[in-house]
Amino acid sequence: MSNIFDQSCLAIVTGTNRGLGKEIVHQLAKRITKPSCIVLISKSPETLKTNSESLRKQFPQHAFCTYACDLGIPSEVTDLISKLSEDLKAKVKQYEAAVLIQNAASLGRVDLTARDLDDMDHLQQYACLNLSSYIALHSMYLKLTSQQANLTKLIINISSLAASMPMPSTTDYCSYKAAREMALRVLDVENPDVRTLNYSPGPLESDMSEELKSKWTKKEATANWDYLTCEESVNRMMGILFENTFESATRIDYFDR
Ligand SMILES: NC(=O)c1ccc[n+]([C@@H]2O[C@H](COP(=O)([O-])OP(=O)(O)OC[C@H]3O[C@@H](n4cnc5c(N)ncnc54)[C@H](OP(=O)(O)O)[C@@H]3O)[C@@H](O)[C@H]2O)c1
Repeated sequence: MSNIFDQSCLAIVTGTNRGLGKEIVHQLAKRITKPSCIVLISKSPETLKTNSESLRKQFPQHAFCTYACDLGIPSEVTDLISKLSEDLKAKVKQYEAAVLIQNAASLGRVDLTARDLDDMDHLQQYACLNLSSYIALHSMYLKLTSQQANLTKLIINISSLAASMPMPSTTDYCSYKAAREMALRVLDVENPDVRTLNYSPGPLESDMSEELKSKWTKKEATANWDYLTCEESVNRMMGILFENTFESATRIDYFDR
């Protein structure tokens, strides 16, 4: 089966400033052979600017567009969706593939058990960043690509083992990771022309795992984990996309062989 790396792509990636998302953008730019456009969505505008300038120097064959948005604030997400819909409407017609990689996420209150998780401001912001904006971006992508029958369509959710493994003090993280997988599976049955993948990247050397190590009520458990660099995990994900034999809507974990 052919794969996205041989096609000109419009690739939209969330959470691109640091960690796994930054590495995903780098590897897409390196591996996609035809001139393409990569859309970077993250919170800090300054980091987006610095990263995109560096990417343009390293990969002059591609275009890099940036959108600063706090995905945890509904009004910012609404503005983002309308800007993306407008800006990408004509652009998408120039490409052979459209890829959406939903990577942005946050850890949640790993210092609290379910008994104490009742701060509604936190719960609403968490839902917006980790699920509502994710579903709204699916909607934007589907509307954007619906007119193009010959476009290769691919959506990837960056998931976690936490989507199926309950652990203490992870009510928000585990619940929303599980919900994201289900949302993608529903999208998959509704849209047979879109290939979808839930990729679980393994424990990473990143800011998120540093936060877990310092705040989690079970932080001692993290000492024995087999940490991966973001490069190792993204290599594995790119290998899966290169082979392109995965069953649509499946979950693949880094450690699955
Ligand atoms: N780390 C792990 O061990 C691990 C394990 C399994 C799964 N995962 C999953 O892998 C993905 C990436 O994790 P990571 O470790 O790379 O995380 P990270 O180091 O915390 O990076 C998070 C990224 O998301 C962006 N982001 C955070 N809050 C945002 C907001 N409110 N609005 C817009 N963008 C926001 C950040 O951009 P700014 O810098 O601009 O804030 C950053 O680029 C996540 O989906 C995570 O759940 C991670």
